[in-house]
Amino acid sequence: MPKTIVEVLPDLPSLINRSQNIVVSLIQEAIAKTDRCTIALAGGSTPKPLYEKLAQQNLPWEKLHIFWSDERYVPADHPDSNQNMARTVWLDHVPIPAANIHPMPTNGNDPASDAQLHEADLRQFFGMASGFPQFDVILLGMGDDAHTASLFPHTPALKVNDRLVTVGSKDGQPRLTFTVPLINQANYVIFLVAGASKKEALDQVFASDADAFAYPSRLIQPQGELWWLLDEAASN
Ligand code: 6PG
Repeated sequence: MPKTIVEVLPDLPSLINRSQNIVVSLIQEAIAKTDRCTIALAGGSTPKPLYEKLAQQNLPWEKLHIFWSDERYVPADHPDSNQNMARTVWLDHVPIPAANIHPMPTNGNDPASDAQLHEADLRQFFGMASGFPQFDVILLGMGDDAHTASLFPHTPALKVNDRLVTVGSKDGQPRLTFTVPLINQANYVIFLVAGASKKEALDQVFASDADAFAYPSRLIQPQGELWWLLDEAASN
């Protein structure tokens, strides 16, 4: 079982402020240890104000490497693209080297091939031909069905345990996603969850006994620390 920290903040702005402080300190901690930080970003709407705040930070950008824990299978400039969101509100506004940004490829017209391509890129970056690389930080959101990344309930992606990246599916729409074992290899996994719509799913995720394939966020049990940053609306 990971060391799990659950913090309930009064509202979304305070959750975002708290997450900014934690993420900045974890970035600084990783850089102090290894002279770099590898962080995978969550998609969706919750983390957007966090990324806007990170754009105001004065960090050693050349030592930060940005990845994504999942991506919609759309062009990089598509309004639904997680990469597009993070670049628009954050990465385009800081002097981070282009080579330090490692988006999931979505332009090959074949999600499975692009998943394999990204896996090869990850293995080359981490210098690991096998095994699961260890990200310093992985940020995650959670849907009101308890999915995380693009690991949706009762989908085959939940059972992929021999790959780093696989193809997820939301309502038939393909997505690329980190696998459960890759996420669980991370040093720090931080969930950002806000809003009353998430409460029921959270209850099931924290329940003593529930089907993890029905509530996939239950599968996230990292070897490092697991942080849940919640607002009151999601946790009451
Ligand atoms: C995505 C995300 C997804 C998201 C949850 C929560 O690509 O949409 O990775 O897992 O984190 O659906 O989304 P919200 O933050 O918008 O509620």
